[in-house]
Amino acid sequence: MVTTERLYSGMQPSADSLQAGNYIGALLPWRRMQAEYDAFFSVVDLHAITVPQDPAELREKTRRTAAQYIAAGIEPSKSTLYVQSHVKAHTELAWILSTITGFGEAGRMTQFKDKSQRFGESATSVGLFTYPVLMAADILLYQTDVVPVGDDQKQHVELTRDLAERFNARFGKTFVVPKPVIAAEAARIYDLQNPTSKMSKSAESHAGVLWLLDDVSVTAKKIMRAVTDSDGVVRYDREAKPGVANLMTIYGALTGSTHAAIEDEFAGRGYGDFKKAVRDAVVAEFEPVRAKALELLDDPAELDRVLAVNAGKAEEVAERTLTDVRDRIGLLRRG
Ligand code: TYM
Repeated sequence: MVTTERLYSGMQPSADSLQAGNYIGALLPWRRMQAEYDAFFSVVDLHAITVPQDPAELREKTRRTAAQYIAAGIEPSKSTLYVQSHVKAHTELAWILSTITGFGEAGRMTQFKDKSQRFGESATSVGLFTYPVLMAADILLYQTDVVPVGDDQKQHVELTRDLAERFNARFGKTFVVPKPVIAAEAARIYDLQNPTSKMSKSAESHAGVLWLLDDVSVTAKKIMRAVTDSDGVVRYDREAKPGVANLMTIYGALTGSTHAAIEDEFAGRGYGDFKKAVRDAVVAEFEPVRAKALELLDDPAELDRVLAVNAGKAEEVAERTLTDVRDRIGLLRRG
């Protein structure tokens, strides 16, 4: 079913490569959903600078992230794929929304609490604190209906909903109130060495992180070395067998198999066989995406051109919303 409903989502260009959680929890659902929605996908470079970034590397990571979107099947002629900082309306709306966001409300965001605890007070920026307000601006500028994200972003989308409702109540109906769309259990992929922590671009050790752009032999080794347990039975039990459960989630997301089907498929077989099957599924999925992304990165001028065209499309929509917002809150129009 094709609707004219709008979809918005984004990823931070905070590493040279996306990781398997980004791919399974977000890119796969994006690819599926782009046919049914008027979809906007951004590379959120302004979010990435809430922690220190090397300038030259940030530019490169921004291109690499965009290339991976396209390589994974996001079509820039159908969906609007652009770089957040190219559309200035994001920062302006973020400022306006920050004036209706409670200090306590922002302080309750678990990602902020985790990150600020990890960095310590002196290394925690105000930008990290207001990060979810910028994310709300991203979403609300485009009158978004649905936001497909992994589980870890749900709280930010809930805040976005609260801000939209609050603004609408105070100034009249201005924003569509968006809904998060979380892809059932693939919404959280865990680290292969530490299967109770989510797989993350910023993990301290990379031994348990699968990178989309890594050489497949490295990816294959990481899967064969993934932490399991001594029970030897392929059975889904998130609490008692987190390593095996995580591999089952990855395998299921890539092959379309249910837990029950995976349990049947590997009944009476050991973890070695199971891991080989997971390895083959991941390698078969990642290899063409990696090759395509590297090919796109060979022609950065063309990639930049595509991103510029799409930034123009995004800007038109964003500016309409922002003009309405400015009028509603009483900013004097420039004569
Ligand atoms: P980011 O860059 O951390 O992650 C991008 C997307 O990948 C999902 N994800 C995962 N899903 C499953 N398992 C994992 N281990 C895993 N790790 C990451 C995330 O949930 C996300 O969907 N704040 C956002 C970016 C953002 C955004 C937005 C998203 C900025 N503005 C507007 C949606 C709408 C972030 O940091 O995502």
